Amino acid sequence: MSDYLTRSAALVDAFLEQTFTDPAIPSRLAQAMRYSLLAGGKRLRPVLCLTCAAACAPGAGDELPASVLPFAAGLEMIHTYSLIHDDLPAMDNDDLRRGKPSCHRAFDEATAILAGDALLTDAFAFMASVPLPAGRVLEALYLVSTAAGSAGMAGGQMLDLEAEKTPPDREGLARLNALKTGALLRAACECGAVLVGADDVKRQAVRRYGECFGLAFQITDDILDVVGDEAMIGKPVGSDAQRGKATWPALLGLDEACRLAHRTGEEAAAALPAHLFAGVQSDFLRTLALGLAERVQ
Ligand code: IPE
Ligand code: IPE
Ligand code: MG
Ligand code: MG
Ligand code: MG
Repeated sequence: MSDYLTRSAALVDAFLEQTFTDPAIPSRLAQAMRYSLLAGGKRLRPVLCLTCAAACAPGAGDELPASVLPFAAGLEMIHTYSLIHDDLPAMDNDDLRRGKPSCHRAFDEATAILAGDALLTDAFAFMASVPLPAGRVLEALYLVSTAAGSAGMAGGQMLDLEAEKTPPDREGLARLNALKTGALLRAACECGAVLVGADDVKRQAVRRYGECFGLAFQITDDILDVVGDEAMIGKPVGSDAQRGKATWPALLGLDEACRLAHRTGEEAAAALPAHLFAGVQSDFLRTLALGLAERVQ
């Protein structure tokens, strides 16, 4: 299973390695974009997109569909932009990301802001370039832009900042989580289905998987901020407590947060029933979701 993840992530890495090398891009901007994009990272969003595409198109065989790859890479660009801006002094003020100084520490704040702006915007050019039927591409672009925008990730980041001052209840934290982290993960999964022309039943199943995955994922991210190891997670430990962030362990306590991560990981796996989703890609998706809670045990 981890072999499958390694191979898929390597495919994404190889694609990203070729990007932003155009001499027309001001070199400091290209350097900052590539610095953050190529710093590592689990590549979960592009891998989820590629794998959901393959799981919804069993005829495509073992090969990950190369035509989806630029779209998947665009998702990683959007995610990387969100991390660069998330680390800025005005946001989470974190100096370490993916095991290296954050973009604004390696460069400067203004360059980091622009690197984020450019990654977000250029991502759409990559996503729009895939050689697939235009209607499907348009629908997928719509899903990603709404997932990343004001009623998605950017909106969630606003709620996250407000929650530092006014701690939300459980429902409020679930909403914050669904927007800031869940929306892009869900869109990554659903776009995979949309791009291969999956029927509505499969599309809804994959969407549900992404939704549950997003919740389980942020719960484990919050737990790792308490009990994780800086060398392993590549970012500071204890940052959330220091900023007074609203997190799942702060709301529920560590044990209950771990149980909730476990339960929602199981719900994600259950969203992909074996009679609809057979094959190595679906096995991978279920195992990945079930494995989330293991990151914190
Ligand atoms: C971190 O995401 C930010 C959250 C949404 C919790 P990842 O844990 O996927 O970060 P990378 O891409 O592996 O660095
Ligand atoms: C960030 O959540 C989610 C984003 C949209 C970037 P966090 O602030 O918890 O992410 P980390 O822990 O810094 O990676
Ligand atoms: Mg944050
Ligand atoms: Mg942060
Ligand atoms: Mg975090």
